[in-house]
Amino acid sequence: MQSLLSPASQEVVRATAGVVAENMVKITSHFYPRMFADRPDLLNVFNRADQAVGEQAQALAASVVAYAVQLIDPDAPSFEPVLDRIAHKHVSLGIRAEQYTIVGRHLMAAIGEVLGDAVTPEVAAAWDEVYWLLAMQLAAAEARLYALGGVDPAQPWRDYRVAERRDEVPGEVITLVLAPVDGQPVPQHRAGQYVTINAALSDGSTQPRQYTLSGAARPDTMQVTIRRVRGTADTPAGMISNLLHDDTPVGTILQVSIPCGDVYVDDSDSPVMLVSAGVGVTPMAAILEDLAQRAPHRPVILAHADRSAASHPLHDSMSATAASMDSVAAHCWYEQADESASARGAHTGFMDLSVVEVPADVRVYMCGPLPFMREARRTLLDRGIPADHIRYEVFGPDLWAQNPDAA
Ligand SMILES: Cc1cc2nc3c(=O)[nH]c(=O)nc-3n(C[C@H](O)[C@H](O)[C@H](O)COP(=O)(O)OP(=O)(O)OC[C@H]3O[C@@H](n4cnc5c(N)ncnc54)[C@H](O)[C@@H]3O)c2cc1C
Ligand code: HEM
Repeated sequence: MQSLLSPASQEVVRATAGVVAENMVKITSHFYPRMFADRPDLLNVFNRADQAVGEQAQALAASVVAYAVQLIDPDAPSFEPVLDRIAHKHVSLGIRAEQYTIVGRHLMAAIGEVLGDAVTPEVAAAWDEVYWLLAMQLAAAEARLYALGGVDPAQPWRDYRVAERRDEVPGEVITLVLAPVDGQPVPQHRAGQYVTINAALSDGSTQPRQYTLSGAARPDTMQVTIRRVRGTADTPAGMISNLLHDDTPVGTILQVSIPCGDVYVDDSDSPVMLVSAGVGVTPMAAILEDLAQRAPHRPVILAHADRSAASHPLHDSMSATAASMDSVAAHCWYEQADESASARGAHTGFMDLSVVEVPADVRVYMCGPLPFMREARRTLLDRGIPADHIRYEVFGPDLWAQNPDAA
């Protein structure tokens, strides 16, 4: 296929891709403070914790480099899945086409400032072309998603009232049932998708966080299930999860995006395997309820890992849903062995999928910490499940998409 990049820029990108790739995290780490100094309003749009731990800079860097590489190398992996994931995330955050100019200006300046004299006018022009090709593709994909969702990107938030609160794991995990304040129907989501909650902080600023819709689509409400992120000796308590636990009684109004996300259950008749750890169970709860309503004959294998039976969120509601379906096999692994764990017939220790019977045509959906998903994916690949039948959701910037086979 012919590259979208002009022949002159192809030459330059080929010659400089290595040095740019080597320095890209340095460049994006320099880029963010530069952009925020110029546009402090954007501090409300970006996740401050991801900024603090540097994950967003890595995700941006990896995506720009992967995009450039596939422009010059026809054998490079397709960028489409990465583009799809970014577009969905951007739409959930209300990112607007005109903001690409701000990011582009600061990213190009950061490249110049980090690489210094190596950035000749030709090099700058070639990377500017790469940036704008990517920006145009993202903006086009996002315009389509906004149109499909019936949303004006200038007003991405809709007010929802907390209609009900349920304790799932006392003190640790709650479910919030949300009803639109305007009384109109809720947008229908595909099971596995998430919304962004744009939380208001006491100092007048806002912070967006994504939460998976933990039930099937319903006409009047949607629900999210939120784990409290506790502080440790080295890390602060999670800003928004604690706010939602401690300061969001029934009746609170929250700003919520349309449902987004490129990982959702397929429409085939194949068996489904839902692999989760901890609060990564939320997409699985939605998928299970959705299948119970639309395709209860589809065989399902549930595989969940948790610290203990008591900390396993949504266990009882998912068991009730499973009981209404034709064929669900459930497997749990708990680190802590106790009476409740034995009553559920749970394995003790970490998940080991080699002991589970897995049909060859299974479609797998995974969600949990990256090391957990790497291990699960490797076991399934070893058992002959094709890579493109294994989909996964990451509860943070995706540092895996470009290279899922990395250790
Ligand atoms: C697609 C998607 C779906 C999701 N679905 C769910 C879901 O269904 N349920 C759910 O509970 N969560 C879900 N999440 C995660 C959720 O969006 C939040 O990331 C989570 O609630 C934590 O947010 P927080 O504001 O409480 O923590 P944050 O304040 O964002 O902190 C996150 C982590 O960063 C650490 N940190 C913050 N600042 C620093 C610092 N200066 N130095 C070192 N470490 C620091 C914190 O200690 C914490 O461990 C999802 C995320 C995504 C991307
Ligand atoms: C070509 C330009 C851009 C690229 C390549 C890009 C790339 C990315 C990537 C890879 C992610 C992480 C997605 C994931 O969750 O896995 C992301 C998230 C995000 N992007 Fe962009 N982006 C671009 C432009 C923009 C613009 C113009 C804005 C708006 C100012 C923006 C705001 C955000 C925000 C707020 C997030 C979420 C950050 C977080 O949760 O930590 N991006 N982008």
